[in-house]
Amino acid sequence: MRDTRTAVELDQEAAVRRELEDFYRDGTPPWDSGITPPELVALVEGPGALMPGQALELGCGTGTNAVYLARHGWRVTAVDLVDRAVRQAREKTAAAGADVTVLCGDTTRLDEVGVPGPYDLFFDLSCYCGIPPHRRDAYAAGLTKRAAPGAQLLMFGYGPEAFDDPISGVTADELSARFAGWRLADVTPGTNPVPTFWFTLHRADAAA
Ligand SMILES: C[S@@+](CC[C@H](N)C(=O)[O-])C[C@H]1O[C@@H](n2cnc3c(N)ncnc32)[C@H](O)[C@@H]1O
Repeated sequence: MRDTRTAVELDQEAAVRRELEDFYRDGTPPWDSGITPPELVALVEGPGALMPGQALELGCGTGTNAVYLARHGWRVTAVDLVDRAVRQAREKTAAAGADVTVLCGDTTRLDEVGVPGPYDLFFDLSCYCGIPPHRRDAYAAGLTKRAAPGAQLLMFGYGPEAFDDPISGVTADELSARFAGWRLADVTPGTNPVPTFWFTLHRADAAA
């Protein structure tokens, strides 16, 4: 297929990738707390917890939450763009004895990654909000194509105000508009000093 990206869009993608690679090259990136967020724990272990099934983690970093999901009975595939992150995630999952498939690839190009699904749960902790806008439709389409009936997406994202650049950040309105065939079921503000949100989206039942 012909590549229709503009020079500006290509620059944005390259700049984002460079920045991410620098974070992992320089050691442990600032977001890598090693702690599974309570919002994911609630979904997996809380009242009305999901039945374990197939999960796809988007932008898994060093794999903390992929290990958590696997330990709770999920069959997990985890994807990250940066090979250093993927290497660390593979080490972490192996050390934990967790059966996780960790793949290096772009969450906006899932057809190239080899993750057929279908998935019952998608988990994104701060990946989508850093994806350049021109790649976000492809991200949404990739998840929609791989969603099992009743699938859920739990996403944490920073609001646009949290960034110095004009392209990063995510809002509820954007997700509602972009994720056709999904219902934005919940938006809960995060506890960070800058605007952050936990979004829960449900794949709309085809019959509904
Ligand atoms: C802010 S970090 C969060 C990492 C991890 N979820 C955590 O909380 O520790 C965002 C992650 O998404 C990855 N990422 C960003 N854009 C991506 C893309 N298009 N495809 C795959 N991974 C991506 C980055 O490499 C990085 O590991």
